[in-house]
Parts: sequence; structure tokens; C-alpha cells
Amino acid sequence: MHKTQELYIQKIEKAMDSFLPSASDERKIVTDAMQYSVHNGGKRIRPILTLEFCRVCGGDIENALPFACAVEMIHTYSLIHDDLPCMDDDDLRRGKPSCHKAFGEAYALLAGDALLTYAFETLTKAENVSEEAIVRAVRTLSNLAGTEGMIGGQVIDLISEENTPDLDTLNRIDAYKTGALIKSAVLLGCIAAEVTDEAVLNAASVYAESIGLAFQIVDDILDVTSSTEELGKPVGSDDKNDKMTFVKLLGIEKCKAWVNDLTNRAVEALDVLPGDSTFLKDLAYALAERKN
Ligand code: IPE
Ligand code: IPE
Ligand code: MG
Ligand code: MG
Ligand code: MG
Repeated sequence: MHKTQELYIQKIEKAMDSFLPSASDERKIVTDAMQYSVHNGGKRIRPILTLEFCRVCGGDIENALPFACAVEMIHTYSLIHDDLPCMDDDDLRRGKPSCHKAFGEAYALLAGDALLTYAFETLTKAENVSEEAIVRAVRTLSNLAGTEGMIGGQVIDLISEENTPDLDTLNRIDAYKTGALIKSAVLLGCIAAEVTDEAVLNAASVYAESIGLAFQIVDDILDVTSSTEELGKPVGSDDKNDKMTFVKLLGIEKCKAWVNDLTNRAVEALDVLPGDSTFLKDLAYALAERKN
């Protein structure tokens, strides 16, 4: 693993701890469920992107930590709910029983709700960031996590279960359900660095949209080619749920070629950024090759 990545993960784990609530009365069951799902070996790709985009755009990564953690809270909530029996009905997540298997469905639902809510409180904890930037962050995250973004993608993903895959629908599913949150992570990094230059924000968006789509295509490939042990979540989940995926429509080889094209497109966009983007370039290539 890249040294910068290790350093970022350490900072993110510590900051997540400091932001998450911990009840000692009867509410403990839910704060325990939140901590259980947050602290269990996620790759932390989204918060890493927030920190690195802040740095590349000339900001101090310490200022971006609350934004980074907020995105990871939304991501973790999305996984808790995604695994519920009414959604993908998956019993394993990040190598451990899914939140609803460990705490029961009702508390898993509430832990997800609480993480979603805390994410927005956490955004407001950014220090040395202008109030205007915090407002931009709230607006960006809520937009990209809601029906215009991640939730919208989950809806189209559910509706498409019974239908024959088509390219346009698949693009929309992946751009929304996965690309949107990755885009929010990248934009929040820029916002923490007080970036207002449209050219930089556009380049950041192109990078995010490209690696975001590639990320979900790789997720769908791994669902077919990996093992539950390596992935830390059940393989074959998409087939079990009759999901519409690019793998089903195009086959694995075409999907891999497309992931390469998207990664190249992401890397090209980095030229516009003001700082050294070597780490973001390496990260894009590493994500295309990832095994879990
Ligand atoms: C899994 O995301 C869900 C998708 C959007 C494909 P990650 O692969 O980033 O999951 P963790 O956080 O590392 O567990
Ligand atoms: C996840 O898509 C998208 C989310 C918003 C959680 P998947 O359903 O493919 O994610 P995994 O494979 O369960 O992590
Ligand atoms: Mg799903
Ligand atoms: Mg799933
Ligand atoms: Mg999947």
C-alpha cells in the first residue's frame, strides 16, 4: 500500500472515532451497531479521496477530515441498508456478519439512519473552513446522497431486477448508486480547500465520475470472479438478486477493457489540478486492479 494511503487511513480511523457517538444507557445498542459497521476494515476509498483532493488543491488535510468522515458515514449507512433482507439480503460485510445479523434488523435500520444524520452534523465540525464552504459541502453531499444520487441509483437498481439489461439503464444505475458518492468525496475535498475555479471542479468531477463507474464495474466483476473470503462479502449476490450488471450484458473481458478506458480518462483529467496528482493517478490504476 502507498505510504500516503496508510497515513490517511490512520487519520481517518482516529477521526471517525472522535466523531462517532457512544451511549452508555439503553441507546448503546445503536451506537454499538454504528461503531461495529464503521470499524470493520473498509477500504476507506472515499475519505482518502476527500483528503487527497483537498491537499492537491492546496488545502490542509486536517481541515478536510470532518468532510471525509461524513462521506464515510453515509457510505457505511448505505452498506448497512443495502445488506438488509428487503434489499440485497446479504449476511456478510467486510468479512463480518452484516449489521442486521449482528444487531437485528430494527437496530441495523436505526444505525444506518443515525449514521446518515450524524454525517451532516460532522460536516459542520470542520474548522478553519469558511461557513460558505460548509454550506456548499452540505448541499453537495445531500444532493449526491439523495434521490439525485446514491438513493436514486438504489431505486433504479431495484426496479431493474426483473428487466433485461440495457446500456443506458446500467450507466444510470452505476453513475448514481456508486459514482455519486465518490463524486461527493472528491468535491468535498475541493470545497475544504475553498476551490471555486470551475475548471478544477469540472476536472475533479470527470475524475470522480470515471473512477466511480469503473469502481462499480469492478465490483460487479468481483461478484462473479472472486471468493467470499477474499471479498469479505458474499459472491454471487447480483445473480441471486437478478441484478442488472454490465458483466451480464457485456461479459467480463469487455468490462475489463472498459474499466481501463475509464481509468485512462480519469488520469487525463488530473492534468488540470493545481498540485502533484501522482497519488491520484496511482490510486485510479490500483482501483482498476483491485481484488476486494
Ligand atoms: C462497496 O463499496 C459498495 C459499492 C459501492 C460497490 P466499497 O468496495 O468501497 O466497500 P468498503 O467500504 O471497502 O467495504
Ligand atoms: C452498492 O451496490 C451500492 C450502494 C449504494 C451500497 P452493491 O449492492 O453491488 O454493493 P455490494 O456489492 O453489496 O457492496
Ligand atoms: Mg445493492
Ligand atoms: Mg449489495
Ligand atoms: Mg456488488
